[in-house]
Amino acid sequence: MNRRRDTAALFPGSFDPITNGHLDIVERGLSVFREIVIAILVNSDKRPLFTVEERVRTIRQVFRGNKRVRVDTFSGLLVDYAERAGASVIIRGLRAISDFEYEFQMALMNRRLNPKVETVFMMPAESYTYVSSRLVKEVFRLGGRVSDLVPPAVEKRLRAKYKLRGGRPTGESE
Ligand code: PNS
Repeated sequence: MNRRRDTAALFPGSFDPITNGHLDIVERGLSVFREIVIAILVNSDKRPLFTVEERVRTIRQVFRGNKRVRVDTFSGLLVDYAERAGASVIIRGLRAISDFEYEFQMALMNRRLNPKVETVFMMPAESYTYVSSRLVKEVFRLGGRVSDLVPPAVEKRLRAKYKLRGGRPTGESE
């Protein structure tokens, strides 16, 4: 019996916004684990573009109809949330060597905090190795095309968000 297939895995992050790179990791996660819980961090130090509620709604929209993907929020320690959510695995995407140091530190710290929770790294398709939420926001804000980088629901929200902020600026920062 493949016990891993019975396991729920957490995919935590800021998802501000979710990108096609994240979607690729969720797909890969679903090929290994029973359920993927996309866990959005509340109260991050970062100043997000989208509220947590907007991110939850968008991600639920993206995965509507997929009963094996759940969207939730968490605050406090990730490993404590993993325990509460009944997940023994944390999935993180590794795009490049530059991701490695931060991810390695987090994985080892989380292991120290709770040795029963294992971190699994997954690599997205090569075509997403340069995609990040930060760059998507920057490119969109400056008028670049992001339709290949994010799901349509996210592009729509980006458009609405920047319109709300007085239209898409043409060069200057926010
Ligand atoms: O998408 P991100 O911003 O890279 O995700 C980072 C995240 C949410 C996974 C990380 O900041 C996190 O787990 N924060 C929760 C607080 C915590 O458990 N900190 C100790 C981790 S070593």
